[in-house]
Amino acid sequence: MGKAALITGANGQDGSYLAEFLLGEGYRVYGLVRRSSTVTTERIAHLVGQQRFELIAGDVTDATGVHRIVQQLRPDEIYNLAAQSHVGVSFDLPSATIEVNAVGPLNLLEAIRAESPHTRFYQAGTSELFGNSPPPQNENTPMIPRSPYAVAKLAAHSLVRLYREAYGVFACAGILFNHESPRRGEEFVTRKITMYVARLAVAMENNAGNPPGDWPKLILGNLDAKRDWSFAGDAVRGMWLMLQQGQPDDFVLASGESHSVREFLELAFKPLDLDYRDFVRIDPAFFRPAEVNHLCGDATKARRVLGWSPQVSFEELVTRMVESDMAREQDCHGLRCAS
Ligand code: NAP
Ligand code: GDD
Repeated sequence: MGKAALITGANGQDGSYLAEFLLGEGYRVYGLVRRSSTVTTERIAHLVGQQRFELIAGDVTDATGVHRIVQQLRPDEIYNLAAQSHVGVSFDLPSATIEVNAVGPLNLLEAIRAESPHTRFYQAGTSELFGNSPPPQNENTPMIPRSPYAVAKLAAHSLVRLYREAYGVFACAGILFNHESPRRGEEFVTRKITMYVARLAVAMENNAGNPPGDWPKLILGNLDAKRDWSFAGDAVRGMWLMLQQGQPDDFVLASGESHSVREFLELAFKPLDLDYRDFVRIDPAFFRPAEVNHLCGDATKARRVLGWSPQVSFEELVTRMVESDMAREQDCHGLRCAS
């Protein structure tokens, strides 16, 4: 019989790719999603109804519910991807962020310790842990968080190590640098840019190839921040590899290349042959109270131990995201025209 895995945050960007990946590996997959008054399962709608895929209602902040789910399933692996994942928002919602991002993983680790000690655990950690420690950052770089999001993730990171050392839980923390895809949440800077470019492109198609004169601006914050961007599909393969090793450990997953938000903009606007500066307005509201300036990961350990390396380049990633948003925008425009 194949293995069973529980994914929290199954409807997130990474959760959807991981669910597809594990089903492809023959797993039975349980996807934890929280109850909402509107449908929030768009990213995994194509998996619902598959024989080895099941959705479970739950919330990682609910210790009793988490305990019961782990006790009932006793899965081989748990991937904790659930989070309030927006760094900027964490400054406005610090308590909620700490609750989901730190207490959530604690609830899962406690449930594993008490009910299912054989379960292997993956915690979705982040390059935000490093704050402004100079690049390249690896597993030994000082962690000096600069947001409530990162403070909570540092607590989770420390808990993983504690449960490994104190209780022998097979717990691994990924330290993942930014990874994106056509399924990226719409409030993250990459997707905000590619959706704007796609709308502009379709508007130009209907305007004899010219940008409409009164076209609304793309409102952004700090364009000088640098990030190490890779593809989410590559990242989930690395998460899985961590849980297949002989010993639990923590790993950086990154491309080793960094680019500024400005460079992302330039590349995204390239197919339109337009200068992004004519379309972007800077609004201080999108600057963060404390910024992480430059992230560039050193994934030597993951390459050596896991045999992991990213397959999609930065240029390919931007192209895929722009093309996907253009196709979506064209469909949507076609529907509007037909109605
Ligand atoms: P995402 O798209 O925002 O997905 C997060 C998921 O967590 C959402 O489906 C959300 O549910 C769910 N969630 C939030 N609060 C929850 C709760 N209390 N109980 C259960 N589920 C809850 O994030 P992502 O980009 O896939 O990232 C996955 C994980 O990796 C996150 O932990 C993130 O912090 C971490 N990470 C991401 C990156 C990156 O570049 N993407 C890099 C490093 C680390 P709803 O759909 O209902 O909102
Ligand atoms: N979101 C957003 N919106 N960011 C902007 C904007 C804007 O309008 N304008 C500029 N930025 C800058 C941010 O200040 C930041 O420096 C950079 O663009 C990237 O922002 P996000 O796309 O929001 O991602 P992030 O790097 O803060 O966080 C993501 O990556 C982390 C790993 O490093 C998230 O996925 C986190 O969950 C993840 O841990």
